[in-house]
Amino acid sequence: MNRLAGKVAVITGAGSGIGRAAARMFVAEGAKVVVAEIDATLGEASAREAGADARFVKTDVTDEDSVKQMVHQAKEAFGHIDVLLNCAGGSLREDSPVTEVDPSVWDKTINLDMKGPFLCCRHVIPVMVEQGKGSVVNFSSVVALRGNHIAHVYVMAKGGLISFTQALAGAYSPKGVRINAICPGVVLTERVRSRFTGGNQIRFGGIDNIAGQYPFAVGQPEDIANVALFLASDESRMVNGAAIPAEGGFSAY
Ligand SMILES: NC(=O)c1ccc[n+]([C@@H]2O[C@H](COP(=O)([O-])OP(=O)(O)OC[C@H]3O[C@@H](n4cnc5c(N)ncnc54)[C@H](O)[C@@H]3O)[C@@H](O)[C@H]2O)c1
Repeated sequence: MNRLAGKVAVITGAGSGIGRAAARMFVAEGAKVVVAEIDATLGEASAREAGADARFVKTDVTDEDSVKQMVHQAKEAFGHIDVLLNCAGGSLREDSPVTEVDPSVWDKTINLDMKGPFLCCRHVIPVMVEQGKGSVVNFSSVVALRGNHIAHVYVMAKGGLISFTQALAGAYSPKGVRINAICPGVVLTERVRSRFTGGNQIRFGGIDNIAGQYPFAVGQPEDIANVALFLASDESRMVNGAAIPAEGGFSAY
């Protein structure tokens, strides 16, 4: 308890999945949380579930004005921003090999998975620099660590996010701001569960196949939120510029 006492965290995409689990966990650990989510129904439900210290701010992370407005509201409400979790993201069902994929998949994926974290860092990091402290957590993926995934646009976006994380860590650690990434394996959010049903079961190899070979590679949103909690807290003060695999060894053996 109270591992985040006194901290304010902005969590994008906190209406579902990993971000929603993190919102609950962060409030339970003493943080004030901004649920920065595009879907008002999900965002409001998440903030309610997390408790009185969570506040929903409708945000489209791909829209710079919306991100600016969210940062303004977070500062108005809580005075400072100590933690940014760039959770909003995810692959599209239609993503496929480079020679086949429809260009519209590129636009949507790069917009959400790269431009979103880019814009949020662009507007939250100056607040952290002014405070002289902060922790940013980007959400990459195991797909950036292994060359075997067929969703080629998503792979590119999540790979780029690791380089972005390293570049920002180098640039902003002298100002007291740490930037790290998490590379989750298969996390059973509703979105991912739906991917592993029907025809996609075959396309993705199936959860049982993955879990059979890598017993720790399939987990729950809370498993990843726990890693984010560590990176958000001062317990990780020596961890910077890292891309932490949380995928049961999927990329290691
Ligand atoms: N679930 C996994 O297996 C897995 C694995 C590796 C990496 N990741 C990454 O972790 C992050 C979280 O994944 P998840 O499965 O919890 O996602 P999710 O789909 O459960 O939740 C994503 C949330 O983001 C919101 N969102 C979508 N577009 C938005 C926008 N423009 N602005 C603000 N919010 C927006 C959605 O409404 C949703 O509530 C993503 O970046 C994903 O790529 C997930």
